[in-house]
Amino acid sequence: MSVGRIPEEIIEAVLQQHDIVDTVGKHVHLTKQGKYMKGLCPFHSEKTPSFTVTPERQMFHCYGCGKGGNAIRFRMEIEGLSFPEAVRAMAEEAHIPFEDRAFRPGGSPVSREMEQLLQAHEWSSKLYHFLLKNTEHGKPAMDYLKSRGVSDKAIDTFQIGYAPARWDTLVQFLDKRSFDLSAMEKGGLLSSKQDGTGFVDRFRDRIIFPLHNRSGKVIAFAGRILGEGHPKYLNSPESRLFTKSRTLYNLHQAKTEIRKSRQIVLFEGYGDVISAWEAGVHNGVATMGTALTEGHASMMRTLADEIIVCYDGDNAGQAAALKSIPILEAAGFQIKISLISEGLDPDEFIQKYGAERFRIQVLDGAVSAVKFKLIYLKKNHILLEEDGKVAYIKDALEVIAPLPSPTEREIYLKELSAELQVSFDSLKQECNQFRQAMQKRSSYGDNNAKRWNNVRHKKGKASMPTLLPAYHVAERRLLSFMLQDSEVARYVGDRLGDSFNINDHAAVAAYLYAYYAGGKEPDVSRFISSLQDDRLEQVVTSIAMMDTPEEWTTQELDDCIREIKRVPLQAQIQRKKEEMVSAERAGDFLRAAQIASEIIALERQ
Ligand code: GTP
Ligand code: MN
Repeated sequence: MSVGRIPEEIIEAVLQQHDIVDTVGKHVHLTKQGKYMKGLCPFHSEKTPSFTVTPERQMFHCYGCGKGGNAIRFRMEIEGLSFPEAVRAMAEEAHIPFEDRAFRPGGSPVSREMEQLLQAHEWSSKLYHFLLKNTEHGKPAMDYLKSRGVSDKAIDTFQIGYAPARWDTLVQFLDKRSFDLSAMEKGGLLSSKQDGTGFVDRFRDRIIFPLHNRSGKVIAFAGRILGEGHPKYLNSPESRLFTKSRTLYNLHQAKTEIRKSRQIVLFEGYGDVISAWEAGVHNGVATMGTALTEGHASMMRTLADEIIVCYDGDNAGQAAALKSIPILEAAGFQIKISLISEGLDPDEFIQKYGAERFRIQVLDGAVSAVKFKLIYLKKNHILLEEDGKVAYIKDALEVIAPLPSPTEREIYLKELSAELQVSFDSLKQECNQFRQAMQKRSSYGDNNAKRWNNVRHKKGKASMPTLLPAYHVAERRLLSFMLQDSEVARYVGDRLGDSFNINDHAAVAAYLYAYYAGGKEPDVSRFISSLQDDRLEQVVTSIAMMDTPEEWTTQELDDCIREIKRVPLQAQIQRKKEEMVSAERAGDFLRAAQIASEIIALERQ
């Protein structure tokens, strides 16, 4: 949740009070190695330490997974907090006055409205919960929940409630507490009357599931009808507080266990999360019935490395699971997918077969994404017929052939061979043909569509900076000097400006010029906080962690600048050469000669 910008003084004070070694040291065992401290990365699993902390720069960086930044970033990642949430928590710990300045009265009207809305949600949630548990009105809802096996404990843990069938329960309640009702309508708690003369309750005669943000504040409600009926669920509309594509049910409670196990279980329904929780699965979350988005995936990825997709066993559920694979792959997850028999959903499975069987059969028995795809494809073919077999093999090879690991390919091919009773050798041969065809396809143009969503490639790239082109290295080197010394920044600013070839580098340079122009001293950690942009933050961190000497010579800077300027020049020369060739082809030799002399001039530069 971003509530305006946080004043710079607060960020600076927070960084001053929270030393990076102390901050990281609470979670990682660090050992000293020269200027650095090293330890096992808390963000991915590894056996040899590639996680580095540099006290001098107040930064951390992992060479394995690429995560890095200052103390605030570390807290965001390890605790799954947003930037304002992390700053707020760290300010509170260091007794830095924060509330009064940015968010309380005297803060912006926007933030006051948000506070009001949060307060109203919190109180409404308590009201609904009370009505369910303690009143005659709530009795039928309570009976319904009981009939579905929801325990008293779960009702408390998930703050489940009941909205009575009346039109004005919440209207009265909020009005008595002097909330601005039209703001409450905008925030999704009430509806306007059709004739525009006032407001009515939005949720009536429904079981209420409060939806929380990551830090546990109620931001919306989902209301389920008692029994059958339409619509089954009525959700709060999207509001300042609530964005479906960035909200996950139960994340606030599950994040402790998720962080501990680095594993997350993704469900489709609220009911599934609740039943699984009661079955001892405390790392489960669900989307709001909408499709999984990249936003969800990257949110989850900050907390976990592995994800188990545990969707309904029916066709719709399995199709949705298939669709989730590329999104989760792109986020860099290790993916497992549950197979639930008889078309049951997880909730029904638990009610029918119990907690233990759910954990063993459904969660531990979840299969890899490849295996899932193969099982899914198989359903489309009749394997008793030869044609069906051949068609299935073709589909299966499309999945198996692109796998980068030969061992992995072999395992799946062997399974396929045993299953269909075709020889392993012929399958292997066909698979190799597939691969050759694939390689031919991908050598045209450098954008192999499959590459970007392949985790292994991504990792390889991050750990092999030596393969970067010379100008890329020069740009990083220059920026690294610029981060350490404002003198260098001025020197480069005069000669190169923001003409870096890589867009992110150009952006970093531009921010850095502005940072120094504000009279600030070199300080990577502070500079990073001024960016408030995740991607640029990672770029700067990885540059700051380079081993560049502290001393620089103008000779060295000039070399880098020349290397960088050469790229557009070379592109220009290349274009001219092509122009020359086509002029020659057209028989325009005068024009060709003219271009030739232009090329020579460019080459001299
Ligand atoms: P139960 O039927 O009580 O077990 O609910 P469920 O959570 O298992 O529901 P279901 O499997 O039918 O749907 C999965 C999820 O999709 C739900 O948890 C909701 O988030 C969402 N959903 C289902 N029906 C509706 C609906 O009518 N409206 C909205 N907005 N969301 C729905
Ligand atoms: Mn269900």
